[in-house]
Amino acid sequence: MDTLLEVRDLQTHFFMAEGVAKAVDHTTFSIRRGQVLGVVGESGCGKSVTARSIMRMVRPPGHTVDGEILYSRPDQNGQSASIDLLQLSATGTEMRAIRGGEIAMIFQEPRASLSPVHRIGDQITENILLHQAVSRLEAEEIAVDMLRQVHIPMAEQRLDAFAHQLSGGMCQRVMIAMALSCHPSLLIADEPTTALDVTTEAQILELMQGLQADLDMAIMFITHDLGVVADMADEVAVMYLGKVVEQGAAADIFRDPKHPYTIALLESLPRLDQKRDWLQTIRGVVPDPYSTLNGCPFHTRCADFIEGVCDEIVPEPITLEDNREVRCLLYTEHARQERPPVAEDSSHS
Ligand SMILES: Nc1ncnc2c1ncn2[C@@H]1O[C@H](COP(=O)(O)OP(=O)(O)OP(=O)(O)O)[C@@H](O)[C@H]1O
Ligand SMILES: [Mg+2]
Repeated sequence: MDTLLEVRDLQTHFFMAEGVAKAVDHTTFSIRRGQVLGVVGESGCGKSVTARSIMRMVRPPGHTVDGEILYSRPDQNGQSASIDLLQLSATGTEMRAIRGGEIAMIFQEPRASLSPVHRIGDQITENILLHQAVSRLEAEEIAVDMLRQVHIPMAEQRLDAFAHQLSGGMCQRVMIAMALSCHPSLLIADEPTTALDVTTEAQILELMQGLQADLDMAIMFITHDLGVVADMADEVAVMYLGKVVEQGAAADIFRDPKHPYTIALLESLPRLDQKRDWLQTIRGVVPDPYSTLNGCPFHTRCADFIEGVCDEIVPEPITLEDNREVRCLLYTEHARQERPPVAEDSSHS
């Protein structure tokens, strides 16, 4: 299956009076056409900033300072051609055509992302007119159709509403309708169901899955909820302190996580088949992004920490047997010299 988006060594920093926060720090991952990539990791690990970097929507004091965001699309001859989004002007015509059209995003706070002074209908219609060669009347028809698809009751009347007149769940649906109205190749959904009740959440997830299959759209699904990832994702990328520390097929990662951080994340999940009085938590806290840790960024919390290795050498991504990308020194020669091989037989289930 072909790669739709390949992010290589992405670095987005915030230049603050306190220092430089490396929110996204040499992040590398890829998304395949038509597939769902679940992106997980604790709060503050750089998930939203990565998403905004792809959309070229990072605002000062944040800047994407280096890396590549290779986006693959058919050229005039129908051949797949790759462009580096970082080489485009963030406000230029080409990026504006891609943003909201070919790559669309549902933001973490939908109400804050909708304009408070424009009617819902106008916001969706303008986006359609920007990206599709249709008349205003046709654009309005598409808008109503999209609102119906996201199960907004009385869709036609809702076109005249303002964001503040809608509930949080309705705003989420409007954002989804707007994002999907131009049939993007990639939908970036940043915690699309936070602050929703479980029934609405289930409906929205089902809706996204349905549309994903119908439109052959890829989704970068950012969430804290590993249960949702297990349900929706084909692939998983695990982020820690601005880096993707593990990426692979969702089934493989849940069955046999390789990175100690992924192992710890999965162990912190509540499970029905284990009677525990308490939930396992990951020891320690995420270091602040201004810190300049030597070696592996996870070494301060890692259960398998090797002194003199993990606190000294920066791990590079390596590919393991099932096409798993892992950034961990335990799988390298450095660790083998210190300890016998690990994890070949590890079953953490
Ligand atoms: N506007 C900003 N100004 C300064 N620093 C910022 C800003 N936005 C993000 N950061 C920095 O980037 C880091 C990553 O933030 P990000 O929003 O990407 O985290 P996240 O993984 O999406 O977290 P959450 O799960 O809570 O949404 C933060 O820890 C913070 O240090
Ligand atoms: Mg976020």
